[in-house]
This record gives sequence, C-alpha cells and structure tokens, in this order.
Amino acid sequence: MRVRRRNPCLIQIDDVLALDLGALLRGRSELAADTAACLLCPISGQRIRIPDTELRVIAGLTSDRWHLATEVAATHAVPVSVIEDMAARGLVCSDSNEIPAKALRQAEDRLHAVGWHPQAAVLEALSRWRSVEGEEGAREHGDLAQLERLRSQEAAYGVIPPHFHIHRDASSHLKLVHQPLDGPLGEVLTRRRTSRHLRTDTPLPLAEFSRVLGGTFGATGTETLAPGMVAVKRTSPSGGALHPIDAYPLVVDVAGVAPGFYHYQSRDNSLALIRPMTPEEARRQASALTAGQTYFGNASTLVFHVARLDRHHWKYRRHPKAYKAVLLDSGHLSQTFYLLATERSLGVFFTAAMNDGDVLDLLGLDPLCEMVIGANGLGLVDTTDDRLDLHPSPYSPDAGREPVA
Ligand SMILES: Cc1cc2nc3c(=O)[nH]c(=O)nc-3n(C[C@H](O)[C@H](O)[C@H](O)COP(=O)(O)O)c2cc1C
Repeated sequence: MRVRRRNPCLIQIDDVLALDLGALLRGRSELAADTAACLLCPISGQRIRIPDTELRVIAGLTSDRWHLATEVAATHAVPVSVIEDMAARGLVCSDSNEIPAKALRQAEDRLHAVGWHPQAAVLEALSRWRSVEGEEGAREHGDLAQLERLRSQEAAYGVIPPHFHIHRDASSHLKLVHQPLDGPLGEVLTRRRTSRHLRTDTPLPLAEFSRVLGGTFGATGTETLAPGMVAVKRTSPSGGALHPIDAYPLVVDVAGVAPGFYHYQSRDNSLALIRPMTPEEARRQASALTAGQTYFGNASTLVFHVARLDRHHWKYRRHPKAYKAVLLDSGHLSQTFYLLATERSLGVFFTAAMNDGDVLDLLGLDPLCEMVIGANGLGLVDTTDDRLDLHPSPYSPDAGREPVA
C-alpha cells in the first residue's frame, strides 16, 4: 500500500478536558486539561484525532506523490499497521482500491475540480447541520423572558458595544440634510420587517408566490459576453455577474401547487418537482429544516438559497474572497425577496439557522459542489399576533436613548 498526505490538510490543536487519572487514584474526581491535534476534514466535516506519533508521520508526507507504507513505517519506527490504520481513519490518503479509500481520493479530486478555497471548504463542512433542533421555538418568548436572556448575556460578556459608533479620530464633522424615505420604494423599505406569525389556515395565492419568487430569482435580461457565454441579469447584483444561487422552494401551502420540494427554473420561470410530499410531511419538514424554529414552520413556503460553486469557482478558483462573495449574493437576493413580499403586505423572513445538510440530502445535492446558505420564508401575515416581531418606534436622534440591539 502507498500513502500520501491529505490535500487540503488543515490541522487544529484543541484543548481537551479528560478525567485526571492521578487524582482519581487519590480518590478525587477532577478534570485535567490536555491538548489534542485534529485533522479538519472538508469532506466528512469531522475532526479526526491525531496522536503525537501520527502527527509526525503526516508532517513527513507530501500530498503530490505516493510513499510506500512500509518505508513510512520504517522511517518513524512504527508498525506498518499504524500507517494502515491512519489510512482507514482518513488521516492520510491511500492508493487502496477499497471503497472508503477510493471514495476519499475521488472526493478530494472533486473538491479541487470545483475550485474550493481550502479554508472555506473546511469551514463549510464543519459548520453544516443535520437534525439540529434548537430551543428557539420551544422557549418562553414573553417580554420578561426576553429581558432575562439579554441580562444574562450582559452578565456573561459585558455591556453590548454601542449601536452608534463614534469614530474618535475624525478631524471634523459635516451634518447632512435629512432626506425622508418617501416615495413608493421608501415606503416599502420603511415597512420591511421580519414576520414570525404566519397563517396556516389559508394558502398563499399562486400569483403572490410567483411574483416574489420570479421577481427575486427570475431572469430579467441577458448579455452575450463572448461567443457561447451569456450573462443573465436578475433584480439583485451578483459577484462576477455569475448568479450562482438557485432557489429551491419547499412548498407547504401554496394554492394550486402540490406540496413538496421544487427547483425554480429561471430559464422558463417554472417549478421542477424534485420531491413530492404530503401536506403534513411538508409542514413537518419546514419546521425541522429551520432547526426547530416552530414559528418559521408556519410559512406557506420556504425558499432555500443553494449556491452552485462549480459555476462560481469556475471564475474565482480557490479565491480568498469567493466564499464571502457567494454569501453576499444571498444577502442581496434575500433583501429583494423581502421588499417584493413587503410591497404585497406578505409575511417574510430569512433564516440562516437551518439544517443545511438535511436539505442537501433531501434534494440529493452534492455537498462538494452545492452549498445551502439559508432560506427566505413567505406566507400570509397572522394579524392577530405579533409577539415575536420587533416593534420599533420611528427613529429620532433627539430621543436621547441608546437603542438596545
Ligand atoms: C442572515 C440573517 C439570518 C437570520 N436568521 C434568523 C433566524 O435564524 N431566526 C430568526 O428568528 N430571525 C432570523 N433573522 C431575522 C433577524 O432576526 C431580523 O432581521 C432582525 O431581528 C431585525 O428585524 P427586522 O428584519 O424586522 O428589521 C435573520 C436575518 C438575517 C439577515
């Protein structure tokens, strides 16, 4: 067998707490601090523990050429079984034709072919959620409970940095003329808010759904940049004019649309059904995929933002800003989605706290190529309740009060 170093091979030294055996022998139960090296795997998203001897083995390997396992073992004075075991745990790649070794090699090749920046690939894999159920939906949401949470945050981390930042080094100040946000756009911008109370007794009309979805993710123009290479325009900007983010609506209750997971095809403004569901299953998934934020589970539809990184990284290969740029695209699309929904007085939200790994699994997408960023939710506003929403007063610089974030 031959082995080589993983590529990328990002190693982190963690602090770990373990039971202090010395103290245990003396009849006391104490924790002892120790350190542990871990390989951060961009394929599985796991932290793989590396014992000290194996750390030295990894440091002696190159990633671009194979090394005989017997020679590596001899160099480090360890049995060859240690090297074989490292390959089995994914600490090194091996040239074995067994499925796990082959799959790891193919996945690394794919990561490189897609053009991932190594640190971004690791961050994405290690921050992916599956079956996470936060306590957000279940916890007490009254004013007192909310105040209590803010107070304990303050007790733990000190006073929140102020909302309004004063730059101490400014040499002069110029007061600007106040321009009221009037006109139709100003009115929509001022009304925009996140809604956490949506109706489950009436379906969202198809025309409303189509307008917000198509108005955000639909094509509004094209321009040929080179023979065979056409840039497509949308209502939001996109880094490199690439528009790598596709919309995947989970339809729960939209008039005339069967529940299920769809792909929005902007080419012809249509919905492609990927995974049909019963209404109950679609509702359950809406809540589970938003990590137990039960109020978001009431949305008529959740529109997931899924980036196709092979398209984006085709232009920005292993680029240090590529990951940031893709996330920013999603932010722009979300704001457009919010504004189109607000214009029609629909309830709208965005959530980043969601089980992106489960979305990939449900849609059968390739995690090495596709990244689920977040979801916009849409529905009819439940006007009988607004306890979970913000209720801001109009801003007045003279009010003399420091807003709490
Ligand atoms: C990137 C992003 C992630 C968000 N994630 C959540 C979330 O997981 N849960 C939630 O209740 N609200 C979420 N929100 C909504 C914010 O809480 C909301 O925008 C904020 O409270 C300000 O309220 P407003 O949108 O009504 O102005 C998110 C907003 C953004 C932009």
